[in-house]
Amino acid sequence: MHGIIHLALRKYLQARHGPEGWQRLLEQAGASTSLGYVRVGYYPDEEFIAIVAAASSKTGAAIDAIYEDFGASVAPDLLMLYPRLVNPEWRTLDVLFNTESTIHRVVRARNKGAQPPAINCTRPSPDRVVITYTSPRKLCALARGLVRGVARHYGERVEIFESECMLRGGNACKIAVQVKD
Ligand code: HEM
Repeated sequence: MHGIIHLALRKYLQARHGPEGWQRLLEQAGASTSLGYVRVGYYPDEEFIAIVAAASSKTGAAIDAIYEDFGASVAPDLLMLYPRLVNPEWRTLDVLFNTESTIHRVVRARNKGAQPPAINCTRPSPDRVVITYTSPRKLCALARGLVRGVARHYGERVEIFESECMLRGGNACKIAVQVKD
């Protein structure tokens, strides 16, 4: 995955485990401890997954819970990445609705190695978006966390319900996001 995501994971885990704790997670994950991620690089998904698994076995937190919390923490950084693509009038559901057609589309065009997932949305009512997420990485927990992080960024409360999931045999993950008053 793109170096931005790996760097964000390092920042997230270093904040919780300290620099030495991070080194131990790398060792446990079988990743090179001298590894220096750079923003423009690409790094193996396997490494990302193994580091999160190491953090899970160290803390006892479920892997999905770590992805979700990490997603919430990285969302503000992602929103800053292409500020011109994020209309200042948008709120949470507008960002979600435009992630595929505006944001991930540009990520794909500008970063030849990047393969951000398909985030296709319908908006059955002004306060509700239903995301259909598909990716061979099956990181819907990360997607749910990103939704939470975007909502937190805009100071909105959301309820998230995943009615169908690739990890439970579905063809896609269906994630409904409802803004609460
Ligand atoms: C706000 C601006 C956003 C930017 C700039 C952004 C950018 C990116 C980038 C660079 C990647 C790595 C792709 C790769 O290396 O192959 C990625 C992955 C991902 N994005 Fe976004 N993203 C944004 C918003 C969102 C939102 C709102 C969601 C969910 C609703 C989302 C869901 C994901 C997921 C789940 C991945 C992990 C890879 C996968 O599932 O295949 N992104 N994104």
